[in-house]
Amino acid sequence: MSDAAPALVLVAGARPNFMKIAPLVRALRAAGDPFRRVLVHTGQHYDAGMSAVFFEELGIPEPDVHLGVGSGGHGAQTGRVMEAVEARLLAMDPAPAGVVVVGDVNSTMAAALAAVKLGVPVAHVEAGLRSFDRTMPEEINRIVTDAVADLLYVTERSGEENLLREGADPAKVRLVGDVMIDTLIHELPAARAAGDPARHGLSPGGYGVVTLHRPSNVDGEERLRAVVEFLRRASGRLPLLFPVHPRTGERLERFGLRERLAEGGGVRLLPPLGYRENLGLVASAKVVITDSGGLQEETSFLRVPCITMRDTTERPITVERGTSTLVGSDHARAEGLLDAVMAGSYKAGGEIPGWDGRAAGRIVEDLVREWGGP
Ligand code: UD1
Repeated sequence: MSDAAPALVLVAGARPNFMKIAPLVRALRAAGDPFRRVLVHTGQHYDAGMSAVFFEELGIPEPDVHLGVGSGGHGAQTGRVMEAVEARLLAMDPAPAGVVVVGDVNSTMAAALAAVKLGVPVAHVEAGLRSFDRTMPEEINRIVTDAVADLLYVTERSGEENLLREGADPAKVRLVGDVMIDTLIHELPAARAAGDPARHGLSPGGYGVVTLHRPSNVDGEERLRAVVEFLRRASGRLPLLFPVHPRTGERLERFGLRERLAEGGGVRLLPPLGYRENLGLVASAKVVITDSGGLQEETSFLRVPCITMRDTTERPITVERGTSTLVGSDHARAEGLLDAVMAGSYKAGGEIPGWDGRAAGRIVEDLVREWGGP
């Protein structure tokens, strides 16, 4: 990396960002570091288990800048990221060639807004995804980020269609594939060792994995109580491993549901897991029950059945060609699908174009063409 190279700012903030940043850093290195990389961690997620473990496992270098914004309401968190990113960008002389943001968390949108207002171009990795559900904070983040970004890197065909329908300039839109699948492919061998179900006394195909953290599922007492009862019934068919997100853990405690969920031992509550252990456990699972966006993609790639407790998905390809089925809060439907999984008649899923482990390489080539200087 030469000092004369133009600077490229990469922004990461929350857990689902880290596996998207890692392959970009690797691809930049593989290309001989055509940019002076400046990695910014906003600090939206800060617990070691939600952040540091991902940097270590995924070989992401220490952030050059740590903004330490922490938790807060949407306004406070977004505002703090904007203020801090703006200050960093203003302090850079010469100004960076561009800012790369990934995913759809508050940090993504806030950094994009701060950059574009200073006239610094923005690239959005994972652009164009739409759940069409504006009650999801992530949907607002996606729409706003895409509206201001200069380069829109898309993971699946629906993303391209959504952007064009919204009037995006077609010249900005590039279907490049999925950087999260890059990470999955890179890490899978190590993940199988780190996430060996034998460590939990389980065998491959003999258990399910649960992750739930969306406000729509966990923030309201009635809904969370119904989810807890559903999981208890489901665990009658096969043991369930449930790494608990801090938001969910806090709600389970607040509503007095943690003991009820753990009672009987069918649902085993675990702390948040590192990337590899989680991926290894998912890869050998009989079924995944989740409301995560990323897990719908990971299970589709791995051909593991995925019962998605959401009404909508911003990743429709995982339903059309992958292994995800949306059940919302219809627990009877979820139980029917579990029957199909146990009977071996659940849909198998197929290959998804562009999910080939080389998306980050395509993005870096494009960034060099666009922002690499003369
Ligand atoms: C955020 C993202 C969501 C993503 C999820 C993955 C937004 C709007 N949401 O949701 O899209 O799927 O991350 O994890 O950006 N907390 C801790 N330790 C931490 C971080 C958070 O205990 O390291 C607790 C705090 O009580 C905090 C709460 O979790 O208030 C929620 O954190 P926040 O980043 O606001 O949202 P997530 O629910 O994690």
